[in-house]
Amino acid sequence: MTVAVCPGSFDPVTNGHLDVIERAASRFDTVILACTQNIGKKGMLDLDERIGLLEACTSHLSNVEIASFDGLLVDFCRARGVGVIIKGLRAVSDFEYELQMAQMNGRLGDVETLFLTTSPVYSFLSSSLVKEVARFGGDVSDFVPEVVADRLARTQ
Ligand code: PNS
Repeated sequence: MTVAVCPGSFDPVTNGHLDVIERAASRFDTVILACTQNIGKKGMLDLDERIGLLEACTSHLSNVEIASFDGLLVDFCRARGVGVIIKGLRAVSDFEYELQMAQMNGRLGDVETLFLTTSPVYSFLSSSLVKEVARFGGDVSDFVPEVVADRLARTQ
């Protein structure tokens, strides 16, 4: 059985995340969304809300599980017996840091990082930008699932 871990802060989950999750779910038997617990001062939503939104947006994907983790991603992967991490790559600007993390994770644990290139329609999207647009009253309905847009509208 093929299993992959797809990690992130998901603060909040965007259509770009969903695109990568759906494509991963169509190629692996199981995809575990590993939502990091501690995202520090930049965070907006608490862990329960981030997970709740992830659950709502992925309920159509029967082979997707959601979990949280604290500490090193490789420790989470080891505890779950998973050797593949899936990451989305939006642009060259993502690549340098993602390469560093992939190589560090490879050294720390027996894990391979596989990159899915983001669909071009989502390559400009980030959770941070979505939060900023929403904070100033902009329309984010093209960028996030409806349930997320509704939640962001309540934060303004
Ligand atoms: O959605 P994000 O914020 O880009 O996700 C980043 C995340 C959570 C995947 C990354 O920060 C991470 O793996 N954090 C866990 C701590 C860790 O393992 N750090 C070493 C990475 S080489």
